[in-house]
This record gives sequence, C-alpha cells and structure tokens, in this order.
Amino acid sequence: MRGNNEFINQLERGNEALFKASEMQVEAFFKSNPSTEALVEHFSGRCANEYLNMVEVAKNLLEIAPSGDRKMIKLLARQVQDEAEHFEMVAKVLERLTGKPLDVQALLAAEGKGGGAKGARILESMDKDDRLALHLYQFIAEGRAHRVWQRMAEVCADPMIADTYGKIAQDEKTHREFGRVGLEQLIKTEADQKRASDLADKIRYELYAVSCMNCVEVPEARELCVEAYGAAYLKH
Ligand SMILES: [Fe+2]
Ligand SMILES: [Fe+2]
Repeated sequence: MRGNNEFINQLERGNEALFKASEMQVEAFFKSNPSTEALVEHFSGRCANEYLNMVEVAKNLLEIAPSGDRKMIKLLARQVQDEAEHFEMVAKVLERLTGKPLDVQALLAAEGKGGGAKGARILESMDKDDRLALHLYQFIAEGRAHRVWQRMAEVCADPMIADTYGKIAQDEKTHREFGRVGLEQLIKTEADQKRASDLADKIRYELYAVSCMNCVEVPEARELCVEAYGAAYLKH
C-alpha cells in the first residue's frame, strides 16, 4: 500500500487534466463575447450552485457535529458561511447584469427544474454520513472551482465580475484544503484508497459534464481528458 500522503498527492495530480480542461472551457466561454442573456443564464447556474453548496455543507455539518470532531466542525461551519457569502456575491453580479433585484425563489424554482448540470448536485446525491465522499468532493470540486474562478477573473472583461470571482476563488482554495484535512483523517487502509480512487473517478466525470454544459465545448479540453481518464470522456 502507498503511504497516505503519497496517495493524496497522486489523487491531486489526477485532478489536473479536469482542471486544465475546465479552465479552457471557461476561458472559451468568456472570450466568445457572450450576450447579456447568456451571461445571466451562466451566473444563474453559478448563483444556485453557491446556494446549494451552502445548504448541502450545512447538512453535512449537522451529520458530523455529534462525532465531536471539533476541528472538522469549525471547518465546515466556516465553509457554510463562505458559501452564503458567495451566494450573495453572485446574486449581486446577476442584479447588475439584469438591473433588477434578484428573485431568489424564482431562481431556485427554475434551477430545480432544469438545473441538473450543477456541481453541488453531486454533493446532494451523496449520503450525508459519507465523510469520505464529502472530503473528496471538497478536494476535487472546490479545487476545480478555485482554478476556474481564478481563470474567469483573468479573462472576464467586466471588472466587477472579475473582482468578485477573484475573491471567491481564494475561498474555494481554502475549501479544497479542508478536503485534504478530511482525507488525511479518513484514508487509513488500502480499501479506503481503492474506494477513494473509484469515487474520485466518478466525481471528476460528473464535473466534466457540468463544465461542458455550463461553458462551451473545447475539443482540445476533451482530448486532454480522454488521454488522462479514458474513452468514457469521448461523449457526454
Ligand atoms: Fe463557493
Ligand atoms: Fe466552496
């Protein structure tokens, strides 16, 4: 069996193709000079996703709190607060784009119907007492969010959006590190490593699908993923 730090480092390296592909996709979307309507649709999804992250991490916090793991209780509570801030920040981006106050109920109702392409749905579908799944989600999805938001901040022409996402990107990096802390606590045996690898494959695959739907198709990005993860990435 590999040492756990080495295993977690290897998991991290395994995320790289997905992260690079997602950066390429978000860059292509913003460089395509999207219409206001396309931007509103894009940020509506992102706004609902921040809301869902807040709610789902809060549920995990309620599940984990009775274990008495004080370190993790504080980290998850901090993440719930951060996601609430992100929800607010993206809501303001939307209000600036539309010139109208955001109707949160309408946003959530619309996203509930057609919002399958959300990273947070992956978290929603996991058992709330499955800590390995939670920390892997943090490690992969939050790590990806950090990279994608950072790239968005670099390529987005609107300075208010760029500034907002530059700030959010820093928090997502912190959340990725919460995932690392959790993985270091939980992965102890070879069986844990195997389960983590299998689950990581699934999470990456679903996040790639999210990225294809939220942004634009970039053939080189798909090629990168096919090369790294296999032929399943040929179609979505
Ligand atoms: Fe967030
Ligand atoms: Fe986050």
